[in-house]
Amino acid sequence: MGRFIVEGGFSLKGEVKINGSKNAALAIIPATILSNGPCLLKNLPNISDVKLSFEILTKMGAKIKKQDEHTVLIDNTTINCNEVPFELAMKMRASYYYLGALLTRFKEANVAMPGGCNFGVRPINLHLKGFKMLGANYEIDAGIIHLKAKELVGGKIYFDVVSVGATINILLAAVKAKGVTIIENAAKEPHIVDLANFLNSMGANIIGAGTNVIKIKGVESLNSSSYTIIPDQIEAGSYMAMAAVTRGEILIRDVTLKHLESILNKMETIGVKIKKYDSSVFVSCNCELNKADVTSQAYPGFPTDMQPQITAVLTFAKGTSIITEGIWANRFQYVGELCRMGALITVDGKVAVVEGKQTLKAAPVTACDLRAGAALVIAALGAQGKSEIENVSYIERGYENIVGKLKDLGAVIEKV
Ligand code: UD1
Repeated sequence: MGRFIVEGGFSLKGEVKINGSKNAALAIIPATILSNGPCLLKNLPNISDVKLSFEILTKMGAKIKKQDEHTVLIDNTTINCNEVPFELAMKMRASYYYLGALLTRFKEANVAMPGGCNFGVRPINLHLKGFKMLGANYEIDAGIIHLKAKELVGGKIYFDVVSVGATINILLAAVKAKGVTIIENAAKEPHIVDLANFLNSMGANIIGAGTNVIKIKGVESLNSSSYTIIPDQIEAGSYMAMAAVTRGEILIRDVTLKHLESILNKMETIGVKIKKYDSSVFVSCNCELNKADVTSQAYPGFPTDMQPQITAVLTFAKGTSIITEGIWANRFQYVGELCRMGALITVDGKVAVVEGKQTLKAAPVTACDLRAGAALVIAALGAQGKSEIENVSYIERGYENIVGKLKDLGAVIEKV
């Protein structure tokens, strides 16, 4: 799995370029299945989850041509199979997007129950409810979801819980359905807007993405497209957290500031100084960190995918911070690892109380998921001494070239 050795205590200084959004890429890649010609995707992050998504498409018969590190031509016209291999689907959460995409293409999809990061129970009842409303029947047998429809017909779908994944899957399944589909209480995350923009660039008729009501008028066909994926706001937020704990100065380049509002707001409360430019942000910190209370919420609230990283930052603050996880049932599993480094954190259900210690000491720790791993890197960068972080393949699922980028900023980090 690999391990990072991180020597803490060095101030991070310089520039870092943010790559394309992981979660947007993982929705847009399966969406290319709906096109009747090749699609050129630009600004794809070069991370293991994206490689896995290409592996899935290739196994199904697609032709994938890399033009450069972040630009890929995907030709799915040759796909001849409506099934995602079990062992690949199990490796990532976003494999469930092949349900919506294959259902539209073949009126049938067979995909294993998804794997991915474990934050407690991760139901897919809303995805299945949405598919059913569009006319598909499903059956779950031996861990495989089988979906079938004679035809897909638009309708009104109300989600009683805001779900990013269900909103994306219904966009994929409704885009060529007969008539009009309306999703009520839709998720508003930037990657939902990005997927809708991509589908519209192929000829879809989607309005309202980014609000809680999305209207999809089914179209006959979707064409080739060339599309640039948005920057990853969680990667950007993670580098801000690294600047905070190391009292650093980092110019974070190639970001969309609008998507960073909730993170920047919290960083300012903590004491990080922020200068905004058109597509970059300069963050610096040369003082004691302040405590802050944080509640993770659906967009535009503070993202749950930044909750572990901000908790790591607040272990270095003065005073007591309260972190409330508003999305997932069990997303504090990494806290025990921070405590190995001397953090004082208690967890009661969805609430963690962080007694800011201002200093942490290096320790051997283990990442239990992607963002938990990022939190450990942040803690290790700010701690005194040399930490060893195990299971870094989790981290590499979402952070392109993290070791190279951190070294360029002056961090002392190696992968062994
Ligand atoms: C996506 C992100 C993940 C992020 C999450 C919330 C991807 C690949 N993953 O996950 O990184 O943490 O959004 O921003 O983009 N729920 C149900 N029934 C369902 C689906 C979800 O009850 O059918 C609940 C979940 O238990 C959770 C909440 O809805 O409490 C939000 O989950 P959802 O937005 O669906 O998360 P994902 O799309 O799986």
